[in-house]
Amino acid sequence: MLPPFSFANTPRLQLRPLVMQEARELLLVVMASRDSLGRYMSWPREMVELDHARRFVKMGREQWMAGRTVRLGVFERESGALVGNVELDSVDPRRRQAEIGYWVRGDREGNGYAAEAARAMLRYAFESLRMHKVRADVAVGNGASARVLEKLGFVREGTLREDRPVGNVFVDHWRYGLLAREFR
Ligand SMILES: CC(C)(COP(=O)(O)OP(=O)(O)OC[C@H]1O[C@@H](n2cnc3c(N)ncnc32)[C@H](O)[C@@H]1OP(=O)(O)O)[C@@H](O)C(=O)NCCC(=O)NCCS
Repeated sequence: MLPPFSFANTPRLQLRPLVMQEARELLLVVMASRDSLGRYMSWPREMVELDHARRFVKMGREQWMAGRTVRLGVFERESGALVGNVELDSVDPRRRQAEIGYWVRGDREGNGYAAEAARAMLRYAFESLRMHKVRADVAVGNGASARVLEKLGFVREGTLREDRPVGNVFVDHWRYGLLAREFR
């Protein structure tokens, strides 16, 4: 079991695991953001039923218990609305490395939310989990996500050829990395 997440409040956001009763809100948010979320990732196009959203919440809890993933809903503090998700995946305590991922609902893009939520998750990764490095893989051409990472100090380390599918096509991905000593 991973340690509790102690960076839940950022200036504008609250980060916490979703509860099962919020699965419907998650489904609505993902469906409303399908075009923006589905451009560079496959799973948003596959979340079309309440059961899929419930599985997403359930798996997040199970993976946290198993010590592999920290999956947090991102809520706007002012409105209480669910505006996105941030997660730390593939947590490897021996190698002291993990992978970060995030998304923001379509109608809230461009407010700096992704960077704000990711920064809190990086604090958790480096301060609570003592990770040495956090990586992120971004579909080539996803300029907004690359910019989020660069704002946080990540360095582009290379290109992974046809690394994972988006829809039916295997897409090249940029590999980004951030070392603990580089986190600011
Ligand atoms: C990528 C994503 C998370 C960004 O969320 P966000 O809250 O809008 O991000 P931020 O506001 O923190 O930062 C976005 C930055 O990208 C810039 N940007 C936006 N579109 C861009 C583009 N096409 N090319 C280059 N930069 C771009 C913005 O100007 C901003 O930079 P700035 O703060 O210097 O002005 C969001 O667009 C999203 O969820 N996309 C779909 C899912 C996804 O791609 N997730 C990442 C998978 S690796």
